[in-house]
Amino acid sequence: MQVITTICELKEHLKTLQGSIGLVPTMGALHKGHISLIEKSVKENDFTVVSVFVNPTQFLPNEDLDKYPRNEEGDKKVCELCKVDVLFMPLAKEMYFEDEPLIKAPAKIASILEGATRPGHFDGVLRVLNKFFNIVRPTRAYFGKKDAQQVAIVKNIVKTFFMPLEIVPCDIIREADGLALSSRNVYLDEEQKLSALKLSRSLLKAGNLIKSGEMDSNAIKLEMKKILEPLKVDYVAIVDREFREVSKVELENTIILVAAYVGNTRLIDNIWV
Ligand code: PAF
Repeated sequence: MQVITTICELKEHLKTLQGSIGLVPTMGALHKGHISLIEKSVKENDFTVVSVFVNPTQFLPNEDLDKYPRNEEGDKKVCELCKVDVLFMPLAKEMYFEDEPLIKAPAKIASILEGATRPGHFDGVLRVLNKFFNIVRPTRAYFGKKDAQQVAIVKNIVKTFFMPLEIVPCDIIREADGLALSSRNVYLDEEQKLSALKLSRSLLKAGNLIKSGEMDSNAIKLEMKKILEPLKVDYVAIVDREFREVSKVELENTIILVAAYVGNTRLIDNIWV
C-alpha cells in the first residue's frame, strides 16, 4: 500500500495504474462502517484509493472540527489489512486555495433536515468531493447510506455536472444492539450508548409498523417520537429517495430518518424501505 500526502505524488502514482479505480472518501477514524465500503470497493475495482481528510469546510464554526476523532496510525493499519492500494492523506493547505470558486449544494434538498441544522455543511462536502473526484478520477465512489442526504446530494452533483463516475451507496453497519456505527460514537459513555439505542429502536418500530400495513407518515412519526423520548429530537422525517417529504410510505422509494442529541452528541440514523 502507498501512503501518499501530496496531490502531485498521488497524480503521478495514479498514472501508473491501468484499470478501474474505486474511491472511498473518509474523514478517518475508520470503523467497521468504513471497512464495509472499502471491502466493496476492493471487490468491485482493480484499485482502491481511500482518502482520509477531516474537511474543515463542512464543519460549522460551533461544531467539533478540533476534537473530531483522528487516528492516523489506526487508519493505516485498517487500510493495509483491507488491501487498499493507495491511502491518500492530504494537508488542508494543499487542498484549498485562498480565493477559489465555490460550489453551492442544490438549494431545496440542502436546506432541509441536516442542511437546516447545519447550514453550509453540504456546500463544504461538495467542495471537497469535487476536488477528490478531479484528483483521483475514480470509476466509482463509495458512500454510506447512514448519511442518506449526503448520498442524494452527491448523486445530484454527479448528474448535474455530468461527472464520469458512479456513486455507490452502501448499507449501514450496526453494532449487535442496533446502534449505527459512526465516528462520533466515541463521544458516548456507556449510559449514553444505551440512550443512543432509542434512534435505531424508533426506526425498527417504524419498519415493523410498515410491515403490519401502516403507511401513514404522521402515524409512524408519532410512534417513533414516543420511543425517542426524552431525547432532544432534531427531526423525524419520512421522505422519498429525492428527499421530498411524503405523507404515505411508498415501498422501495422511502427513507425514514431521525436526528437526535444524546448529551451533546448529535446522532443520525435512517432506514431505507
Ligand atoms: O461522509 C464523510 O465522511 C464526509 O462527508 C466525506 C464524504 C468524506 C467528505 O468530507
